[in-house]
Amino acid sequence: MSILKELIEDIKQDVKKAGYEVESLAIEPSNRRDLGEYQLNDAMQLARTYHENPREIATKIAKVLENDERFENINIAGPGFINISLSEKYTTEFLNQMNEDVFSNIDKKEKKKVIIDYGGANVAKALHVGHLRSANIGEAVKRLAKTLGYDAIGDAHLGDYGRPLGFVVLEIKKMYPELPYFDSEYTGDFSELTLPITNEDLEKIYPLASAKAKEDEAYLEEGREVTNKIQNHERGYYDLWKKIVEISKADIKQVYDRLNTEFELWLGESDAEPYFEELQEIFESKGLLVDSQGAKIVEVAEETDKAPMPPLLFVKSNGTLSYETTDLATILERKKDFDPDEIWYVVDSRQGLHFEQIFRATRKAELVRNDVVLEHVGFGTMNGKDGKPFKTRDGGIMSLKGLISLVKEETLKRINPDTVSEEEKDEVAELVAIAALKYADFLPYRETDYVFEVEKFADLEGKTGPYLLYSTIRMKSLLKKAEEINAKKIKVLKGETEKNIALTLLELPTVLDKALDSKSLNDIAEYIFNLTSLYNKFYAENKVLTEENKDLQESWLVLTEVVYKVNNLLLDILGIKVPEKM
Ligand code: ARG
Repeated sequence: MSILKELIEDIKQDVKKAGYEVESLAIEPSNRRDLGEYQLNDAMQLARTYHENPREIATKIAKVLENDERFENINIAGPGFINISLSEKYTTEFLNQMNEDVFSNIDKKEKKKVIIDYGGANVAKALHVGHLRSANIGEAVKRLAKTLGYDAIGDAHLGDYGRPLGFVVLEIKKMYPELPYFDSEYTGDFSELTLPITNEDLEKIYPLASAKAKEDEAYLEEGREVTNKIQNHERGYYDLWKKIVEISKADIKQVYDRLNTEFELWLGESDAEPYFEELQEIFESKGLLVDSQGAKIVEVAEETDKAPMPPLLFVKSNGTLSYETTDLATILERKKDFDPDEIWYVVDSRQGLHFEQIFRATRKAELVRNDVVLEHVGFGTMNGKDGKPFKTRDGGIMSLKGLISLVKEETLKRINPDTVSEEEKDEVAELVAIAALKYADFLPYRETDYVFEVEKFADLEGKTGPYLLYSTIRMKSLLKKAEEINAKKIKVLKGETEKNIALTLLELPTVLDKALDSKSLNDIAEYIFNLTSLYNKFYAENKVLTEENKDLQESWLVLTEVVYKVNNLLLDILGIKVPEKM
């Protein structure tokens, strides 16, 4: 149990000893720190239940608390507020405990199995800024869930199915009609062929083909046919598709690597294909499929709907399967392979309707137990200064690689040439750039849009990733310089800033819980900034290395170590790597 929770449980017992029962304690950090660090507000409520005077109740409770050596400066204010502060002895004790094991101050949750669907990159298409937030938030939420004891499995759920890829194959056919993939006589092994096409080519072919399909009806029809051929595993077409997926996946992996995003599963929409038949049988047997102009749909509207809820398209009129159906089949696949308790989809909020449709259809068809949680963890967009999704200077779609380069240009300027050599510079600038991008992405609540402001994100001062990295590296270097002192325990804790750091550390489990509940990283982002700023204030106030009082010096070093450990833990949850220097 976390330190604060334990403390609250004990205070409850103290209230009981004073003769009163409370279910949950009304305790909160005080905003009048001169009166006390925490304020206990239960006496007023108890006065109503027990028909006694609140001040008298407060006096009785305070008497019991006075015998607890963890508290000091107990006093009663107003009608019956009890102010309490934590004693120096107790504070040093729990800081030492945290130094031994940071996890001793984290509340583990019930061990649930959760699949987190994030990433969602599309094969043969360059990752764009839209994929940034899914990678950042998804990875961090997953790490947070794991830290809190969940069995969390991340799935990249690649967009490797459907019509766009049919067009890519079609366009390759037009460019290289002589390739054996299109030769029905060819009997060789396709997997041994090398394709004369790189990932860069693919990224150009994709927009070219979709533009053609928009203008040219015949091309569109041909593309549909090719899509069908792939979905029917027709020799040659299917093999070329597989090759494209392979080439593209290698590149997608590299970008996710740069973002420190690691998937346990690299599955795609197409991996649900073997489940389509069974899925269709389930929906059919429950009478859920309705014919509609050659297509099959599922009605998902409910009487209580306030907004229109269109039916879900199950099979298109030309026989191909829809994006919705791949998601439904994937639920079936996940159920069979993992039997998860929860599935979270970290996907752009603009896909809210899509997820509502598939969740409703899943319930109707009873694809999963009804206690399985399905949740769309939506997020807002990263916009340009014009308030629209961030674009390149000429108005095109900004690739994720391009975006990272933009930030890196800024962070490169801020690398200290005295500490980082010319050869190391690029690698450090990359880590700082990723930290800048990620941290800025976490600061707003996930559903809020924000504006991309590169100079602000990359700033070494202010609420930024680089500031956190810089400060954390400085803590490490202080600890390194003081290695010989061999600091082990906090013995004294006098200053106000030190006390504030301690009280902030007590809040850690509350912040983590809240972040997991909301599946948003904004509270963690604020918290690590506050903790780091407090630490920097302490650092400016004290000369740790030259301090002559050895007990004080040792205490300060251990305090530094605790903050350093918590920062590392939190940065790791956020998926931010700390360079050695910068
Ligand atoms: N590939 C999709 C896109 O780019 C996102 C996939 C999201 N995940 C899902 N299970 N539908 O829009």
